[in-house]
Amino acid sequence: MGIHIAPSMLSCDFAHLADEARRIANADWLHVDVMDNHFVPNLTLGVPVVEALGKAVDTPMDLHLMIEDPDRWAPAYVEAGAGSVTFHVEAATAPVRLARELRSHGARASMALKPATPIDPYEDLLPELDMVLLMTVEPGFGGQKFLDLVVPKIRRCRELFDKHGLDLWLQVDGGVSLETIERCAEAGADVFVAGSAVYGPGDAAARIDRLRELAAGAC
Ligand code: DX5
Ligand code: ZN
Repeated sequence: MGIHIAPSMLSCDFAHLADEARRIANADWLHVDVMDNHFVPNLTLGVPVVEALGKAVDTPMDLHLMIEDPDRWAPAYVEAGAGSVTFHVEAATAPVRLARELRSHGARASMALKPATPIDPYEDLLPELDMVLLMTVEPGFGGQKFLDLVVPKIRRCRELFDKHGLDLWLQVDGGVSLETIERCAEAGADVFVAGSAVYGPGDAAARIDRLRELAAGAC
C-alpha cells in the first residue's frame, strides 16, 4: 500500500499560492479546499484560481469540494486541471452519475463523508470510486482537533474495500498531525491531508517527510 501525503493549501499564505506549493515539492498531491459559504460556513476559492495554480506548479491537484450542488459544479474542476475531485455525498444528488462523469473527463473520482455520516449505506457505490475521504473534523476550517470517533469508520471502510477486492485509496482529512497520523494509518488510511501540521514557518518539506515516515511505520 503506497502512502500519499496531500498538504492542505488552506493553511498556506494565500497571497503567494504558487510559491507555497513549490515549498512542498515532495508532496504527492496539493489538497485544495473549495468552500462555498453554504455547505460549510466558510468561503475560499473557485475554478479560476485552481486553473491558475495548476498552470504554475507540477504537483497534481486533489480538489476537495465542500460545496452545495457538486453535480453541477464538480466537472469544471477537472477541466481546470484537477487530477482528483472529491464531492461530499451529503451534498450530491446523483453520486453514481457524478463519479462516472468525473472519471469520463479523466480525473480520479472521490466521495467525502462528514464525521457523522456512516459508510455502510454507500457500500454498493464503492466500485464507482477511486477514493473515499473520511473527514476527521467537521469540514470548514483548518487547525481543528482530530476526532478519534472516526477511527472505527476508517477501519470499517478498509474492511469494505477488502471485502469487495477494491483497490481504492482511503483519505483522512482534519487534525492529521505527527500525533495522530499513526492511528489513521494503522486503521487503514493511505492518503493523508495535513494543513496546519505542514504549513507555517520553518521547513514544511521536512514535516512532510516526517509524516510520511510515521505513516509508513504504522501500516
Ligand atoms: C477542513 C479542510 C481540511 C483542512 C485541514 O474543512 O477540508 O483540508 O484544511 O487542515 P488541518 O490539517 O489543519 O486540520
Ligand atoms: Zn480538505
